[in-house]
Amino acid sequence: MYKQIGILTGGGDAPGLNAAIRAVVRTAVGEFGMKCIGIEDSFEGILGETHTVKLTTKSVSGILPRGGTILGTRNKGSFVRMVDGRPSIKEMPISEALANLDILGIEALIAIGGEGTLAIAEQFHRRGFPVIGVPKTIDNDLAATELTFGFMTAIDIATEALDRLHTTAASHDRVMVLEVMGRNTGWIALHAGLAGSADLILIPEIPFSYESIVQKVQAREESGSRFTNIVVAEGAKEVGGTEMYRDQSELRLGGIGDHIRHRVEEMTGKESRCVVLGHLQRGGSPNAFDRMLGTNFGACAVRALASGETGNMVALQAGTIVTVPLSEACANIKTVPTDGQLVRTARDIGISFAAPKQSILGEDAAFEARTSGS
Ligand code: F6P
Repeated sequence: MYKQIGILTGGGDAPGLNAAIRAVVRTAVGEFGMKCIGIEDSFEGILGETHTVKLTTKSVSGILPRGGTILGTRNKGSFVRMVDGRPSIKEMPISEALANLDILGIEALIAIGGEGTLAIAEQFHRRGFPVIGVPKTIDNDLAATELTFGFMTAIDIATEALDRLHTTAASHDRVMVLEVMGRNTGWIALHAGLAGSADLILIPEIPFSYESIVQKVQAREESGSRFTNIVVAEGAKEVGGTEMYRDQSELRLGGIGDHIRHRVEEMTGKESRCVVLGHLQRGGSPNAFDRMLGTNFGACAVRALASGETGNMVALQAGTIVTVPLSEACANIKTVPTDGQLVRTARDIGISFAAPKQSILGEDAAFEARTSGS
């Protein structure tokens, strides 16, 4: 049994991180009699002059509902360098980090993070250091787990934003565009679009055409609905186009919402506005589900370490927490299946994805015609 383990959080913060930290500490200390050291600012905390903090059940008391992470986080840093404009995890300073872990008396590691953090954690495992990963991202784009904590809270925030935009859009007969996060996947847009009654959902997995957007706006107009709500994932792109970056050098997605607003206003003559929800989706208190999932992931991660597992990540599969190899967890991102049930449901209830297919365009127009006045 390990005497002392380390815990760190990496990547963008997500609601539920503190719930996971608290569960790790309470399980490690209370159930297994281990000591816990918090490594600050992701893997940066074990490089150079290390910065760590002793974690006790007392020191994690009260953090369950708190947003952010008490350990701090970094989504770039010494382990991820930009090479030719892309993040590269080659040439990581693993040896220096391992030497510092040894000095600190940390015998095993729990790394909580997204794709990048877990890929780094896997390198520690490859060098023989015991490590268990805990998945986290509001984007829900990790392939090996059905859900990550942070995602449900992000959907709640985006849904509330859509509800609020609904009433102002209807009052002014406007087109409202809500740009949400999600990197190169449309999970947040799809779920919030369904929950918040969007008329159009634009996701990276289904490239859109402006003609199809306009057709939907006009079909609604003709059926008596003089406003339209559009939710667009930050990574969405036009057919034949590429995603838009707010900051190309840092590869920060953004800007597509405003672009759509301009084009739709030009093409329809209707007043349009864009709201970029941004980091509001990540900040603040986790909802009940994310507190529960973070807690369960944290406790299961310690149990996995204590039972001798390493190189694995805890994952939610069919409602149960299992462990999967980190290599599998980082291999691919999970995209929205375009022929999946949720996309089909959205189409069935009249939501358009603005795909440029004639049949789908026809369906959108037919849906408005069939349901006008009903
Ligand atoms: O991965 C989480 C996420 O919030 C993405 O949805 C978004 O593209 C990105 O992080 C933004 O990162 P930053 O913290 O650099 O603004």
